[in-house]
Amino acid sequence: MDKKEFDDFFRSYSKNVDNANKHGFWKLSDAIITQIIKNNISVAIDEKSVILDAGGGTGRWVCDLGKIYKSKFIIYDMSRDMLEKAKENIRNANIGNRVKLIEGDLRNMKSLEAESIDYIISIYSPLSFVYEKGKTFSELFRVLKKGAKIIIMGHGFYNALASKINNYCANIKELEILENEQIVKWGEHIPKLNIFSKETLENNLKQAGFFFRKDLWSASVCSAGARRF
Ligand SMILES: C[S@@+](CC[C@H](N)C(=O)[O-])C[C@H]1O[C@@H](n2cnc3c(N)ncnc32)[C@H](O)[C@@H]1O
Repeated sequence: MDKKEFDDFFRSYSKNVDNANKHGFWKLSDAIITQIIKNNISVAIDEKSVILDAGGGTGRWVCDLGKIYKSKFIIYDMSRDMLEKAKENIRNANIGNRVKLIEGDLRNMKSLEAESIDYIISIYSPLSFVYEKGKTFSELFRVLKKGAKIIIMGHGFYNALASKINNYCANIKELEILENEQIVKWGEHIPKLNIFSKETLENNLKQAGFFFRKDLWSASVCSAGARRF
């Protein structure tokens, strides 16, 4: 996706996303994700631990997790509009002393040192927006400490397939692209998105060097937990 398409999309997205969790489905989804994070990152981690929110957007996860964890946080995101909103949210949550905002591309996180991060979260599919997936998974692996965990989500292949057939009555050509290229296009003003099945997300993680944990899949989006070794 070119920079203009990216910026245009996230400019308007940044104005609405923080209201999303007022709706029933998102409330439930947020609650499930929070529980998955708590199951995998001990609430007892110390002040020195660093949680990287890769594609952390407006910081709504960091603001919530800041109430649970006393750790430091980094929000790494390429959208200036999302980060502007994050600045405001973090100021309101009064956790500015523990949060660093970095504007940058997940494909090349040059401002982060190798093996410097204790946990990575990447929620609601930042990696679906990054077409050079291999580079990005390798960068996530590079910055994580040995033995550390990543909790990551991407748009789900089977959800996209079922929805395109049942709700959109998609034609064969569109379904072929969906299957062969693992890409979905939801609408004219929405960028095309990478979609992941259990197997493709598992392979992407493995190829970058991660150990795969089988107990962390959810249904409508595809998510995984993995460990760096
Ligand atoms: C759907 S939003 C999710 C935001 C946040 N994780 C949440 O749950 O509210 C996807 C985020 O990924 C970011 N993103 C997409 N591609 C990126 C890239 N190549 N580098 C850094 N951030 C990226 C976008 O700017 C956006 O903030």
